[in-house]
Amino acid sequence: MLVCQCKWLTYKQLGDLVEAGVDTLDAIQSHLGAGTECGGCVVALQQYFAAIEEAEAAALQSSGKPSAQVNDGNTSLPVPAADQP
Ligand code: FES
Repeated sequence: MLVCQCKWLTYKQLGDLVEAGVDTLDAIQSHLGAGTECGGCVVALQQYFAAIEEAEAAALQSSGKPSAQVNDGNTSLPVPAADQP
C-alpha cells in the first residue's frame, strides 16, 4: 500500500527506512522527497511517525529504559495489513 503516491513510497519501504535510521518526517522528506510534491501524504506520514513516538513512549514507560535504548529496531511499527508479508 502506497503512503506517498508521488514518490511511490510504500508503508513497507517506510518501515524499512525507519529501521535503517531514516526515522523522522524531515529525513524522509529530504532523502526521498515524500511529502514534498502534492503534500497529500503529509498527514499520513505525520500519523505514522506519531504512532512510532507513542509506541516508543509506551515501551519506555513499561521498561523504564531511556528512549535511545528502546529504539532498537524491535518496536512494532504501524504497517497496514496490505503491506505485511
Ligand atoms: S502523495 Fe506524497 S507528495 Fe504527493
